[in-house]
Amino acid sequence: MQKPENCIITIFGASGDLTKRKLMPSLFDLYQKKLLPEKFAIIGLGRTPFTDEAFREKMYNDVKTFAKIEAEKQRVLKVFLENIHYLPMDINNADDYSKLKARLEELDSRVESGGNYIYYVATSPKFFELVSRHLGMQGLQKQGGGTGWKRIVIEKPFGYDLDSARKLNAHLQEIFIEDQIYRIDHYLGKETVQNILAFRFANGIFEPLWNRNFIHHVEITGVENIGVEDRGGYYDSSGALRDMVQNHLLQVLSIIAMEPPSKFEATALRNEKVKVFQSLSPIKPEDVKKQVVRGQYTGSTVRGEKVPGYREEKGVAADSRTETFLAMKFYIGNWRWGGVPFYIRTGKRMPTRVSEVTIHFKKTPHALFSQNLAPTVGDNQLVIRIQPDEGILLKFGIKVPGAGFEIKTVNMDFHYSDISERTIPEAYERLLLDCMLGDASLYARSDAVETCWEFISPILDAWENDPDLPLYGYPAGTWGPKEASNLFDESNEDWRYPCKNLANDGEYCEL
Ligand code: BG6
Repeated sequence: MQKPENCIITIFGASGDLTKRKLMPSLFDLYQKKLLPEKFAIIGLGRTPFTDEAFREKMYNDVKTFAKIEAEKQRVLKVFLENIHYLPMDINNADDYSKLKARLEELDSRVESGGNYIYYVATSPKFFELVSRHLGMQGLQKQGGGTGWKRIVIEKPFGYDLDSARKLNAHLQEIFIEDQIYRIDHYLGKETVQNILAFRFANGIFEPLWNRNFIHHVEITGVENIGVEDRGGYYDSSGALRDMVQNHLLQVLSIIAMEPPSKFEATALRNEKVKVFQSLSPIKPEDVKKQVVRGQYTGSTVRGEKVPGYREEKGVAADSRTETFLAMKFYIGNWRWGGVPFYIRTGKRMPTRVSEVTIHFKKTPHALFSQNLAPTVGDNQLVIRIQPDEGILLKFGIKVPGAGFEIKTVNMDFHYSDISERTIPEAYERLLLDCMLGDASLYARSDAVETCWEFISPILDAWENDPDLPLYGYPAGTWGPKEASNLFDESNEDWRYPCKNLANDGEYCEL
């Protein structure tokens, strides 16, 4: 593995949740794997007035708890945290950015980073422009000519709709060049999402089948059993379509549907992904009713526990029409996928947490055996399980042993837990490392973000303009409104329900 050059990572919003839950634990993992630069420094920036020591102490306790660091590794954590510094700052105050500049210069000579800086903006999105403008005013974006590289990482959400995403891109590109901008989508950092690339392009057997001639339809699911927790305020102005589909699930779709890139590097890869987004057949306002089903969870009892409805959650308006469930059907208008329906489904307060892609292959052209009696028996499905129980499952028909020729479906199942490299790294670990290495392959490019919004924004507009478009209630702990099943053309088709009978308490279970 290549080791990154010495650098300094600054984190805006360092006293927030993301830093303690994801960023610090991931940086610590990289440190333990010796994947951080020879010399580095991390500067936390936030409103809370910590000293370096107080911030290290806080990080020590937080990381220990969230990343469940065992006793023998806690000493290593302490050593790692010696590289962490803190600068209290008011994000609105220009003077505080000159203090940041001075601190960077001081640490730069200490860790010999040669001016290589990463600015990780993990603040509320309303500050993205402000932070980048101030960095620009201090000349902290300038690179080249021996001054080291500068990169800015922008957390999600990237825009609220097409206009705001375009505006944010235009603003960032006035200060930074595109190669310096790293737009995070943590789904792209997931090991199992990256593996879709390997699965498709490192194997000879699947790619010949990966098209409209053999694939009947494709299902992408990303559902959770949790509700909106303490994020009601944010979620109520977002909703499932913005929160999960515009970014994460469309990114997964692009990897499933893209053409093979000519080589494995950021530009070639991201060009192919953008072509998928550009080929998405727009959903017309009059078709939203037919192609999109939205829902909102209502109060219920889930496995003996009372669960509040979405409108009773903290931070949520009592008459909210924000969707917590979304199911849609659409097409990719290109040579490979013409006529193949794609289905995406996401939701909060579902029976389980599972993200997966299911490729449904076409049936045999002529039914010799019992498939013609029960149409789903013997279905060939390839399930790419992103999480949990990460793996790949192939379903196919066999002859039931004994007399006659009855067919039943069986599973050929690969689990990551079966291989020796069984620990799956955190998505942020990979993404942070790639940013240090200057590899933007797993980050979203400006044109990709905008084309995704071009596809999504008309749906949001249709909902806004037509209050009669239904928002279905569904009891917490269920698979969402039954209307979602009507998206399928044929009456015997439906979504995959990976734990329909809740056999093991709503934990993911393959049936
Ligand atoms: C986040 C969304 O981006 O992704 C959350 O804001 C969601 O609402 C989360 O819970 C899902 O991520 P994961 O990695 O748990 O599937």
